[in-house]
Amino acid sequence: MSGEPSSAAAREPLAPDQELVRALQATRKYGRVHPGLLARVARRALAGHGRRGALKAAKRALHELAGAFLDADSCRRAERLARSLATAGAERRRELCLAVLRLHASSAERLPAVEALYERVWQAAADARGVPRSAPVRVLDLACGLSPFALPWMGLAPGSAYRGVDADGRVVDLARLALPFLAVPALNAPPQVEAGDVLEPPAAACGRFDVAVMLKTLPTLERLAPGAGGDLVRRTAAPVVVISTATGSLGGGRRLRHDELIERALADGGRRQAARFEMAGEAVVVAR
Ligand SMILES: C[S@@+](CC[C@H](N)C(=O)[O-])C[C@H]1O[C@@H](n2cnc3c(N)ncnc32)[C@H](O)[C@@H]1O
Repeated sequence: MSGEPSSAAAREPLAPDQELVRALQATRKYGRVHPGLLARVARRALAGHGRRGALKAAKRALHELAGAFLDADSCRRAERLARSLATAGAERRRELCLAVLRLHASSAERLPAVEALYERVWQAAADARGVPRSAPVRVLDLACGLSPFALPWMGLAPGSAYRGVDADGRVVDLARLALPFLAVPALNAPPQVEAGDVLEPPAAACGRFDVAVMLKTLPTLERLAPGAGGDLVRRTAAPVVVISTATGSLGGGRRLRHDELIERALADGGRRQAARFEMAGEAVVVAR
């Protein structure tokens, strides 16, 4: 018999967006980005720039979304540090986690006040839930980046749970290397980190959580898909959401204000602001 379906299918040309996704997956920089996010970026780049300009536009968008925070060299160094956790003592493990966090642009910015910042976040979230600060909290960290390495400084109440989701497979791999060695005796179960696109329904809606955090992520999501912030807030089932945005540009040169964007995301998502504060280059809004 001639023309077996499998070989015929193999010869069929790919649709332009699939072709672009293949091209992005073949790059060293973006090969580990979640396919759902690659497809979204590819469709937008094709719509805005046509086939000729799409690859460049897609790479630019992915750089803004994920690449800008952890370059290839920092990623390799972070992997070496994360691998050393297995043989390090308790004090050395904390140093190694700090060294990893310093390699990621958005984590590094909050390091000088990381404990104080999380303390205010959990206090405000507990107030918004109407429970004491010492009550266990199930946290969903959306677009978590390398925040799992900050677990030793998060000060989660005893009996709490933590799950991070990120579209960048590199940070998920790094976090998974480290999770068995992070000193978080307060948690009621091992912390979890998974690869996912928070713009797709299951990542935001999965499981039961008390607090969903979206730290320094909404502005880039909005640039990729206008309205994505409100959509994400609406699809998030947790009773309390914590949104933060950077108050300065990555290089530190420009003062940024994202208050309107957050207000719109909360209004579209049917939430009301319960608290707002600024700390360590970050404006934080807690809403219910
Ligand atoms: C500025 S970093 C913030 C990381 C962390 N939340 C923090 O505050 O340190 C943005 C993160 O969002 C992730 N990201 C971007 N778009 C995403 C998407 N659609 N789904 C999941 N993660 C995404 C990137 O991979 C990156 O780790």
